[in-house]
Amino acid sequence: MGTASFGGKFQGRRAALLATGAGGTFPRLFYTREPIYGMPQTSVRTSALPASEEKAAHVRRMFSSIAPRYDLLNHLLSLNIDRVWRRRAVDRLGWESNPSGTYLDSCAGTLDLAVELARRPGFTGRVVGSDFTYAMLEHGTDKLAAIAVEPACADAMLLPFADEAFDGATVGFGVRNLADLDVGLRETARVLKAGARFVVLEFTTPGWQPFRGLYLFYFLRVLPAVGRLVSRHDSAYTYLPESVRQFPEPLELAARMERAGFADVGWTTLSGGIAALHWGTKR
Ligand SMILES: C[S@@+](CC[C@H](N)C(=O)[O-])C[C@H]1O[C@@H](n2cnc3c(N)ncnc32)[C@H](O)[C@@H]1O
Repeated sequence: MGTASFGGKFQGRRAALLATGAGGTFPRLFYTREPIYGMPQTSVRTSALPASEEKAAHVRRMFSSIAPRYDLLNHLLSLNIDRVWRRRAVDRLGWESNPSGTYLDSCAGTLDLAVELARRPGFTGRVVGSDFTYAMLEHGTDKLAAIAVEPACADAMLLPFADEAFDGATVGFGVRNLADLDVGLRETARVLKAGARFVVLEFTTPGWQPFRGLYLFYFLRVLPAVGRLVSRHDSAYTYLPESVRQFPEPLELAARMERAGFADVGWTTLSGGIAALHWGTKR
């Protein structure tokens, strides 16, 4: 079938990532450590939220910088609940109807969500874990021994995949970071087959008092302080709560998924409203 075997192994800094996929679906891609959009990776902003035109470059620099501590902080700051949320996301994907299919995990970061799918008993397909931050993918590759996950360095708003290449897609804590949410949603719809499921996991803010008050204290005070200490990055864990605050509520996100080309859109909150799970089916 002419598929290059990546098996989770990086072949070198600039190794070819995806050669020809099944049926010639995937174009040839290359890793690059060069910053996209010509932004130097060393410049660190202290303001948490950049203007939208700078957002992609800012987000990529930020994740490059926190990549070595990203997993540790995820599990620490969420008390390991992030693992449960990713399991719930994969539960919603409906991969069981096509266990040998090809799935996309966009904004895959250190590949936890992609690995969660690929490790499911009975799953015999492939998962492409794509992210535009090379360092995040690189830190995820240790998890890939003998697992059918193929990392791909790619922008979620301009995916280098053919129309209708995938049987399903996930995004975990990624869409909030996109410079243009609607473009990203439409681009995911483009690469999905009609009838394929799309699952989005994202933070939201609990509405129920007094839990809301306690949570906001933790999210706005404790988390940024611990995040700064452990990641040694000035603003990444201030960006997190601010970006959640500015992100659409679940109801609006559901509406935008519909506008982007998804039907049967639904959502549920997780852990008292700290996170939300969204799903839809490509029309
Ligand atoms: C909070 S991390 C989530 C990583 C992973 N999905 C998880 O569940 O832990 C967000 C990721 O989105 C990636 N990202 C943000 N904007 C992106 C874009 N336009 N294209 C591709 N990846 C993007 C970042 O590089 C980062 O790795």
